[in-house]
Amino acid sequence: MKLLLCSRGSVSERDWLDGLRAALPGHVVAIWRPGLAADFDVALVWDPPQRLFDEQHALKMIFNLGAGVEKLLALRLPAGIPVLRLEDAGMALQMAEYACHAVIGFFREFGVYRCQQARALWRPHAARDRGDFPVGIMGLGALGARVAAAVRQFGFPMTGWSRSRHVLEGVRTYAGPGELDEFLAATRVLVVLLPLTAATRGILDGERLRHLRGGGCLVNLARGGLVVEDDLRDALDTGQLGAAVLDVVATEPLPADHWMWRHPGVTLTPHISAQTLCADAVVQVVHAVEALERGAPLPGQIDRLRGY
Ligand code: NAP
Ligand code: GLV
Repeated sequence: MKLLLCSRGSVSERDWLDGLRAALPGHVVAIWRPGLAADFDVALVWDPPQRLFDEQHALKMIFNLGAGVEKLLALRLPAGIPVLRLEDAGMALQMAEYACHAVIGFFREFGVYRCQQARALWRPHAARDRGDFPVGIMGLGALGARVAAAVRQFGFPMTGWSRSRHVLEGVRTYAGPGELDEFLAATRVLVVLLPLTAATRGILDGERLRHLRGGGCLVNLARGGLVVEDDLRDALDTGQLGAAVLDVVATEPLPADHWMWRHPGVTLTPHISAQTLCADAVVQVVHAVEALERGAPLPGQIDRLRGY
């Protein structure tokens, strides 16, 4: 098969090329450039230009070299061919690390102690009851389910919300729009791991944030567009939220004059909560190419209409 690579992410195209050629010795792997003959079977892409799909008319499969597909699906893609995405591929463990760090940091007030240190203030606070800090995971897919299992080990009451109903040990689960408010009302620390789709864009607006138990924390590890950022600021300013830990924002990179950089309740990281790991990703690409050759079910295929 002929595989066409176009990746504008943190892994260099050289590293992708070396990894893919070593793992798929019987196949051709080339880096995309404008004007290549339209005889490639598979596109392996992260943040590709529209031109790639305008030129390549023989594609049989598109593989997204990351988990989220919203940018890819915003392009005009050839109709009827499968779109696959990375499933976990080492990202779930990274998300679990990040989420545990954020949840525990909020519960144990490490941010407050950091501010006290800056003022040379030695002031212990009373221990808090973890029973008062139910942690809700929004999105129980490849990443959310792993995060729920990791956070649960620390004894917090756990809730989870997804489109279809899930059964997870030790997690009280809710499903669909009809149970969203109930899920939020049972949650104080909200970890967001939803895909950005037509159904989820702006889902965390002021009204939804008001349903959360007061003084909690929003941990957004998925996409900035899920949150209405002006409403988030109001929730922080009124104390409805005590803190927000944001790995993703609506406009990335975050403009230097954006209020989030300086808000005392916000902790920011630059979209690094779960990075694509080349070696793990290449293993999934190999499985996908082999499945395509055999005509077998394709692992990690998304539903293009649903948007994830
Ligand atoms: P996934 O396996 O597709 O899981 C998505 C979860 O969200 C599923 O549980 C799904 O419900 C639920 N969901 C989708 N639409 C919903 C809706 N309208 N209402 C309620 N629940 C809904 O995705 P994943 O691999 O866990 O990744 C999640 C997202 O994380 C990605 O889309 C990406 O945006 C983000 N991400 C961020 C980083 C980063 O570094 N910040 C890295 C990787 C991924 P069902 O189970 O019922 O289908
Ligand atoms: C990163 O944000 C991804 O979706 O893989």
